Formats: sequence, C-alpha cells, structure tokens
Amino acid sequence: MNTLTNAQIQEAAAYIQSLTAIRPEVGLIMGSGLGVLGDHITDAVVIPYHDIPHFPISTVEGHAGELLIGYLSDRPVVLMRGRFHMYEGYGPELTAFPVRVMKAIGASKLVVTNAAGGINTNFQAGDLMIISDQINLTGRNPLIGPNDNELGVRFPDMSEAYSRRLRALAHDTAKAQGFTLQEGVYLSVLGPSYETPAEIRMMRTLGADAVGMSTVAEVIAARHAGLEVLGISCISNMASGILDQPLSHDEVMETTERVKSRFLGLVKGVVPSL
Ligand code: 6GU
Repeated sequence: MNTLTNAQIQEAAAYIQSLTAIRPEVGLIMGSGLGVLGDHITDAVVIPYHDIPHFPISTVEGHAGELLIGYLSDRPVVLMRGRFHMYEGYGPELTAFPVRVMKAIGASKLVVTNAAGGINTNFQAGDLMIISDQINLTGRNPLIGPNDNELGVRFPDMSEAYSRRLRALAHDTAKAQGFTLQEGVYLSVLGPSYETPAEIRMMRTLGADAVGMSTVAEVIAARHAGLEVLGISCISNMASGILDQPLSHDEVMETTERVKSRFLGLVKGVVPSL
C-alpha cells in the first residue's frame, strides 16, 4: 500500500485552486455513462487529471478523466468526470485520493453515482436507486496503512455512511419531479468480470439490492474525511441469472443513456438543497 500523503493532497488542491477562484461546496463523482452531468455545469474550469499533481489517470472507456469546477444549479461544485476503479489496477488509496482533494478544496458534501446491476427482483433496468448502505466485498480498504489524524480518525464510524437527511431530500426531489426512487443496499466487488448467478443469489442472501464495481472505497474515504454522502445507483441491467440473458457493458451504457434526463433532473434538483 502506497498511501498518498497529506502534503500530496495539499499540492493537488493548491494546483486546482490556482486555476479558479470558485470554492466548491459539493463534490460529485459520476459513474459509467453519467458524466454528461458535466455538460450542465456553468462557468466550468476543466482540468485534465494528468495535469493535477499526483492524480491517477483513468483508463476505462466512457470515462473522460477530467475535473470540472463550476456551478450546478447555482451551487459551486467540483465534478469528477471519470473515476478510478480498483479493477483497473489502482490501489484503494488512489481511489480515495480525489475524494480527499475535494475535501481539501472545500467540499463538505459528496454525491456518488454509479451504474449497478439489480439484485432485488422488484427492480427493473432503468430504475434509480438511492443507496441506503453499502457492503464492501472488495477485500480492500483505502484506510489501510498508517493513519494521518489530520485527515480523519483511525477507526471511522460507518453507521450512517449514506446520510439519512440527504436520502430524504433525494426522495422529496424525485417526488416533486413526478417519479419515485428505489432505495437499497449497494454491494461492491472488485470486478471486472460480472458475477455468476450463484454469486448473485449469495449477495441477495447477504442483503444486497444492487451490485457494482465502484463507490465503496470512495465512500469510506469520504466518511473518514467527514463528508456527508448521497449515493445514487442507476440500475442499468438486472444482475446475472435473474433474466435469461447475458450481461454486457453495452447494455449498461444504453440504459444510462435512456434514464439520463431523469438522472440529470434528480441531481440538478437536489444539489441546491444539499
Ligand atoms: Cl450485474 N455487476 C457488477 N459487478 N457491476 C455492474 C453490473 C453487474 N451492472 C452494472 N455494473
């Protein structure tokens, strides 16, 4: 484990702050196919990851790899278009780094989004799910190694990883816009292979409603940093063995495309009241 230091976090933050006077209050991490939210940011300063000191570079298709700083619904935000997955070979400490940088430039709230497979059989592809809680089945944790007390406590509380207050706000926002949201537990695996039907049955027994390959390390880092978190999964497909059809990344991208406008409305609607 090669944890990045607070000095490196501060270097990345100082570089970003040298490019803009905007001081973001909300951080947003966009999942597969959901980076389009970045197009709705006004007065955006776009910073490629490779320009930011110590920032990892994203490799997966459908992820641009840039940080946007600007206004969403008149609120100053920082948005990650493209995230770091452990299946790309990044250690969990690298997935946590951008979250810590967001905190260092002023964010106190974090909105995490992802595309996920539906495990709960009441779900269907195209549903949006507010994440009520998470199960970390990656076997990794971004906080392994010496703890820097400047960044957070050694043993962070995870009893309300996803803020009850922000979940209620999201439901109210959706209701006002005329649709309802699912709510459930997001389970993360390392990937990159999708699960077998037997693994999905196991996960349902464990209490999971949706499965994906991201988010949990970022949320652990966010809670360590004291950020209040809202999580939204786009159920892009039903998980393995539920429907009689194979899974593909193309289906994930097609569904996120289909629900894009509802997703955008939800995030833009909720950001002002976070
Ligand atoms: Cl079914 N599994 C995993 N691990 N990630 C996903 C998915 C399924 N659908 C979208 N992302």
